[in-house]
Amino acid sequence: MTAEAAVPGRDTVVAGPRRLPGLGNLPAFARDPLGFFVRLRGCGDVVEWRLGPQRALFISRPEHIGELLTGIETVFRHPELGWAFKLVLGDGVVTSEGPAWRRKRALVQPAVRPRQVRSYARTMVECAAELAHAWQPGQSIDVRREMLALTQRIAVRTLFGSDTAGREDVIGSAMDVAQRAIGDEFRGLTLFLPPWVPTPGRRRLRRAVAVIDAEVGRVTGERRRDGEDRDDLLSRLLAARDEEGGPLSDKEVRDEAVTLYIGGHETTGTTLTWAWYLLSRNPVARARLAEELKQVLAGRTPDFDDLRQLPYTEQVVKETLRLFPPVWLMTGIAKEGSELGGLPVPEGTVVWSSQWSAHRDPRWFPDPEAFRPERWDADAVPGIPDHAWFPFGGGARACLGARFAMVEAVLVLATLAQRFHVDAGPGEVAPRTGLTLQPDSAVRAVLRPVEG
Ligand code: HEM
Repeated sequence: MTAEAAVPGRDTVVAGPRRLPGLGNLPAFARDPLGFFVRLRGCGDVVEWRLGPQRALFISRPEHIGELLTGIETVFRHPELGWAFKLVLGDGVVTSEGPAWRRKRALVQPAVRPRQVRSYARTMVECAAELAHAWQPGQSIDVRREMLALTQRIAVRTLFGSDTAGREDVIGSAMDVAQRAIGDEFRGLTLFLPPWVPTPGRRRLRRAVAVIDAEVGRVTGERRRDGEDRDDLLSRLLAARDEEGGPLSDKEVRDEAVTLYIGGHETTGTTLTWAWYLLSRNPVARARLAEELKQVLAGRTPDFDDLRQLPYTEQVVKETLRLFPPVWLMTGIAKEGSELGGLPVPEGTVVWSSQWSAHRDPRWFPDPEAFRPERWDADAVPGIPDHAWFPFGGGARACLGARFAMVEAVLVLATLAQRFHVDAGPGEVAPRTGLTLQPDSAVRAVLRPVEG
């Protein structure tokens, strides 16, 4: 039952739901991972469960989540990602560990620092304004498709500027095929097939990677030859120098460019999809958003300097990330001597936490299923502990693109929501777990102009 005796002032491990011999909690986890994590949270703050024969811990208390996140790379190990990730992302910052990861993180960071994000904001608004122009009152749309196409365009243009003009779709589609194929590797029987077994999905994946390599190689080669410094991520990667003053090789530039694309495109596109869905179901929040946009923008296109004047729009994004965090699961593997809240964790134990269940903890988020952007009002925030909300992870491996993503989501919403209400159909859309948390069906909606 209990792996540790209760010691006053010290955390204890409690046993999770009943396990099946040999399988442990695997069937319940596989059937409904999100529901299962909520059940685990209900058992206690540190819960022991079993994935097959493997002993694992599930943590829910913000201090523990903070210890896990800030201890990854020191107290815990970052889990290795599979071969499909490696094939697509190469040795970029997401797929690297130890000193190699530290070097890459330092090289990529300047490309996404606040001053740079400010210049990418122009591209974000430009793409959103093009979409606002194309949208027609009364038009019926597939919200997810529209948002993914938009964030794809933003990702390609902020990465490569105008160098991909006319080929944005080629590179964007290849990236998307690769991203979907990585997700497929984590589903069903494919999970158990060794990498050398050919499947149609794997053939698609290899073809997509060949297109990505050719396109990114071409753009990088051209940019190196003309030597021009532009306001895009590619120029920042080409200008980056490590501690010895060395630049990134072509292969390293390729790996980081693909990493930034894959890390940022679907996560932000999905966040925007869920935001429209939630706004459509919460007319009071939607009206307050429209009012803020009307007051601040009065019909003009927003820019980076408007962000400070759009607190409610930002709260809508934060609340969306609370209810539908694209990254819904984080793990770390205990190193020798690891502890959580003073509790020893045996080496090799996999410690799990889940944004989905932690973000629904009624201790910090009363009425947790309700969409309430005002939870994030400045005077309410002190009641929410650090690491109770962690859509971007935290600690040394926190998301490098968190600011990029927040600026993008707020500016896209501001550009589009001042012109259109997106009226989603009456059906409930449930989340589907994969690499990221996706709507399990199309979110169909009709566009209605916002009254002047
Ligand atoms: C709503 C959008 C986003 C969410 C929810 C999100 C979430 C996350 C999370 C949870 C991690 C930590 C993963 C781990 O430790 O295993 C992460 C890492 C990362 N993200 Fe994001 N992300 C988003 C957008 C972006 C964007 C726009 C970019 C690029 C412009 C980006 C680039 C990265 C990179 C490079 C890492 C790896 C950092 C490292 O390992 O040191 N992300 N992201």
